[in-house]
Amino acid sequence: MKSSEHDKRKGTRDMNEKAIIETVKVAQPKLRREDLLHVLKYRYATKAWDRDKKISDEDMQTILEAARLAPTSFGFEPWKIIVLQDPEIRQAIRPYAWGADAALQDASHFLVFLARKKADITFGSPYLEHITHDIMELPEQAYNMFEKAYTGFCRDQHKILESDRAAFDWSAKQAYIVMANVLFAAAYLGIDSCPVEGFTKDKIETVLANTYHLYDSEHFGVACMTALGYRGEVPHRDKRRRPLEESIIWK
Ligand SMILES: Cc1cc2nc3c(=O)[nH]c(=O)nc-3n(C[C@H](O)[C@H](O)[C@H](O)COP(=O)(O)O)c2cc1C
Repeated sequence: MKSSEHDKRKGTRDMNEKAIIETVKVAQPKLRREDLLHVLKYRYATKAWDRDKKISDEDMQTILEAARLAPTSFGFEPWKIIVLQDPEIRQAIRPYAWGADAALQDASHFLVFLARKKADITFGSPYLEHITHDIMELPEQAYNMFEKAYTGFCRDQHKILESDRAAFDWSAKQAYIVMANVLFAAAYLGIDSCPVEGFTKDKIETVLANTYHLYDSEHFGVACMTALGYRGEVPHRDKRRRPLEESIIWK
């Protein structure tokens, strides 16, 4: 960082020094266990949609708020969501999204999760300056600690900047966590969903970024997608899952 920028930032941070951690008062949730399991079992990867039933604006806002509140590594939030409602653009990506063919025609809402590329998740980038400065409001000392920790994380621990692909995949992992929050929040509200990876990434990116200019491909790529709406079918079968003993190691 240039020294003038650094001094300016330092001034702001010094002013914020006392506000490092605010005490957040949120009551401990005491919700019913059965309700949690009910929500988790109600959710299934919906294949056929009731095209006449639309999600209300209020419910959509709640689902998007659940996305916003998702955790991300270092809190960097390297993702964005396109809420793809334009029928023309939905049609344009259909040939390249076999996993969402019915959803693109019939689902009430369709989300495309974007993940940030290497330039944006390199420390000192305008995006990470925005996050650390404007969003986190890190004081000088915390900023320096962050830089040190993240540099080690990138270089030695997870090697996330060793290639463009590694960087994008790391951001995409964060986007998937956001998607999981969306799936859960939707089910909580009685709304159906289908997570979607069944698409040809480069073709979809060409349509969304180059043809329709929905994002800048220097900064973002497509990570995953999610259809949202109401089921137009009875789910074909009960949940199939491995027993816990097969999946969990207790030690
Ligand atoms: C990351 C991810 C990608 C998926 N991609 C698709 C997809 O493209 N099309 C589809 O119909 N289902 C897709 N699924 C749904 C899975 O097939 C489904 O979640 C799994 O079979 C378990 O069934 P359930 O979700 O109904 O319990 C995807 C699921 C995940 C988690």
